Amino acid sequence: MSKILVTSALPYVNGVKHLGNLVGSLLPADVHTRFRRQIGDDVLFICATDEHGTPAELGAIEAGQDVRAFCDAQHAVQADIYRQFALSFDHFGRTSAPHNHALTQHFYRRLDEAGLIEARTTNQVFSPADRRFLPDRYVLGTCPHCGDPSARGDQCDRCGTLLDPPELIEPRSALSGDRALEIRESRHLFLRQSQLVDRIGAWIDGRSGWPAFVASTAKGWLNADLRDRCVTRDLAWGITVPREGFDGKVFYVWFDAPIGYIAATQEWADAAPGRDWRQWWWQADDVSYIQFLGKDNIPFHTVSFPATLLGSGEPWKTADVIKGFHWLNYEGGKFSTSRKRGIFTDAALEELPADLWRWWLIANAPESADTDFSVARFVADVNKDLADIFGNLANRIISFAHRAFDGCIPEGGAPGDAERKLALDLEQRIAALHVHHTSLEFRAASAATRAIWDIANAYLQHTAPWTAIKSDPDRAAVVTRVGLNLVALCATLAWSILPSLSERVLGAFGRNDAVPRWPNGPLLPLLDDGVGTPVASFGPLVEKISPEKADHLTSRFGA
Ligand code: 2FM
Ligand code: ZN
Repeated sequence: MSKILVTSALPYVNGVKHLGNLVGSLLPADVHTRFRRQIGDDVLFICATDEHGTPAELGAIEAGQDVRAFCDAQHAVQADIYRQFALSFDHFGRTSAPHNHALTQHFYRRLDEAGLIEARTTNQVFSPADRRFLPDRYVLGTCPHCGDPSARGDQCDRCGTLLDPPELIEPRSALSGDRALEIRESRHLFLRQSQLVDRIGAWIDGRSGWPAFVASTAKGWLNADLRDRCVTRDLAWGITVPREGFDGKVFYVWFDAPIGYIAATQEWADAAPGRDWRQWWWQADDVSYIQFLGKDNIPFHTVSFPATLLGSGEPWKTADVIKGFHWLNYEGGKFSTSRKRGIFTDAALEELPADLWRWWLIANAPESADTDFSVARFVADVNKDLADIFGNLANRIISFAHRAFDGCIPEGGAPGDAERKLALDLEQRIAALHVHHTSLEFRAASAATRAIWDIANAYLQHTAPWTAIKSDPDRAAVVTRVGLNLVALCATLAWSILPSLSERVLGAFGRNDAVPRWPNGPLLPLLDDGVGTPVASFGPLVEKISPEKADHLTSRFGA
């Protein structure tokens, strides 16, 4: 049994996330967590809302709410959506919680003691119209690297470069649009990442199993003259800086957010007796830690957060594998939160069951390149894979068992050559599926899952119990027995991706385990099992999405 720590990038608290956010970290992290639980690993899956910095403050201003009240409400909204998507966090915390305040200040002190914090006088953008400094996201302007006119002061979304607000060309205030911005002096703290280049480089070199683009992005950052990073901001909302002369300033959101992974684990530990967060984070050499995140987060996780952890000089757990994702695009363009373009997670759930979205997103996860979501492809794939292949498989054999065998797994006859061949084939395919899951190959895992459904359908097509029943009822009984067990096996193998549909199928067999165990050992006994077990019938497992519904999705979400 391995100990696996899984974190998903922490979604900003402001605003409901879109499907691109879901597939870029939360959903694959859940699928992997579920799979690991199925094979008996000891998994801890941690996430939280990222509640500090300008995204939260700006969101609250837009909503006309006090920031804390805004965060309370928005955290609850997101938690509810993720529950409906069946994301099986062990804990979904908040970076604004007291643990994160204490831990962030702890890291600051350790880094300071290690000589890695330096106070510097910096030039900050000040808006006379807004009567305040405008940190990172409050400043918009043209990216000095790629010329994108809508770059933010913290990062250019187009080219991914991390920025400081004064670097922007023709800056303007995101609050008032004020262009008469001034540069004023303000004291800030810098994390001296330049002192850590060798240690971070050695750390990266010591890891394996990262997608190639994650490793190369990390190396690119490191080799491009790693700059010291300003880790404080002129903001009111956030974690205060325990240092003289820094009243009214807070830590930069990207300093405290990843520390939130640890703090949320502390929250988890505090919520029930017998839990020890240190087992996961402190001298935790027996833990494998996998981080899931979108590609814009790579620099923060491969360089900045490791700089905090390594620089502290303490034995913190660092990531073993960083699974990064490219973008999911929407109908040939970008998903856009600000322009409300694309499908948002709350709206997705209003339209269709979560498993349909889960399936398509994982089967098309942007693992090696950006991927395009289109309503037409989504509808075609879901109808084929889930309704025609998986749903039909279950419905066909279960309803036949009700017609011919009183709805129970029938006795009679012994398995023959067809069953032995089927079992052998499936054993190899299940082993391959296991490898895809452990290697974090989500598309391949979906394709292998679907291929197993195809094999199951082909077996029933070939052995046709509905025909055999007329001439050879004993043979029909064998095939029905194997066919029913096969359906339960298919559901078990698909559970990590399709928890609700799978649980519905397994529930029909009276199997209500919280985590259906991954099949181990030779398959034939498993497929020949359960004589006499009643199998409840249910209506269509998956309703096809009609052309009218498809049109509705297109008009609701825009092409
Ligand atoms: O990009 C984002 O959505 C950030 N809120 C991710 C934070 S991940 C972690 F480091 F906290
Ligand atoms: Zn740019």
